[in-house]
Amino acid sequence: MDVTLKMADNKQTKTPEQGAQQPAKKHRMLKISILRFNPQDPESVPHMQTFELEESDSMTLFIALNELRDHQDPSLQFDFVCRAGICGSCAMMINGKPGLACRTLTRDLPEEFTLAPLPAFELIGDLSVNTGKWMRDMSERMETWVHMKEAEVDLRKKEEPMDPQLAEDIYVLDRCVECGCCIAGCGTVRIRPDFVGGVGINKIARFRLDPRDTRNDADYYDLVGDESGVFGCMSLLACHDFCPKDLPLKTQIAFIRRKMAEQGMRGYDKVLPTHKKAIPIKVERH
Ligand code: SF4
Ligand code: SF4
Ligand code: FES
Repeated sequence: MDVTLKMADNKQTKTPEQGAQQPAKKHRMLKISILRFNPQDPESVPHMQTFELEESDSMTLFIALNELRDHQDPSLQFDFVCRAGICGSCAMMINGKPGLACRTLTRDLPEEFTLAPLPAFELIGDLSVNTGKWMRDMSERMETWVHMKEAEVDLRKKEEPMDPQLAEDIYVLDRCVECGCCIAGCGTVRIRPDFVGGVGINKIARFRLDPRDTRNDADYYDLVGDESGVFGCMSLLACHDFCPKDLPLKTQIAFIRRKMAEQGMRGYDKVLPTHKKAIPIKVERH
């Protein structure tokens, strides 16, 4: 007897085994250990809490954390706004590495993994940190706005056209979402809390490119020409590796450091000892 089944519309044939309904896909049971601490609560003590959660298809950490908050622990604190890698608010330490929770698929993680808040930022509670406060402070120090000649903007004036390639180059650096991943991975920030990090140096690179900004390298040197700026960078490039927007931090840090070193050398003759100041070398005669 012919056991093949004829498909009415496309004339393909299937065996009964093939035609039978696929058994439901078995999902993993995830074990998610989360660092819990509420600094507002004097009773709270930092500790790891492990949750179990059945993984679903295409589950992101955004979905997983919402499931945990909705069905297991409504007190769990974490931040999300856009769910699309645009607002930068969901950055956290994912199995020890900084990353965006909304852009992380659980299937790319092992069955058991840890979540912790980003270090270097003020802790609000559990996985929520105040990156906004840090970024605002850095932006004020780096003066991250276009410094124009005109004191007042004339809205009736025709806009100046910008070279499309230059606009594109600025746009590449402007894609920073201020998530803080570069700061969380930065070794210098651990020893110098005033260090501006990859995000701060990238901002200088962005405004230095902008033809509307009237600042020159001497002005930028005042902002980043020291150890809290580009000369504090140890060049281990965790910022470049962890930036979820793939900003070219490696090249920008190297470029700004070279420009600031050139600028520093321009004023170097002023600090070199003059003949009068030079300390004579004593020659021992026997
Ligand atoms: S430079 Fe990259 S890692 Fe750093 S804040 Fe911007 S987007 Fe985030
Ligand atoms: S390369 Fe510099 S800015 Fe980037 S993580 Fe290392 S020390 Fe920080
Ligand atoms: S929620 Fe906006 S970047 Fe993740």
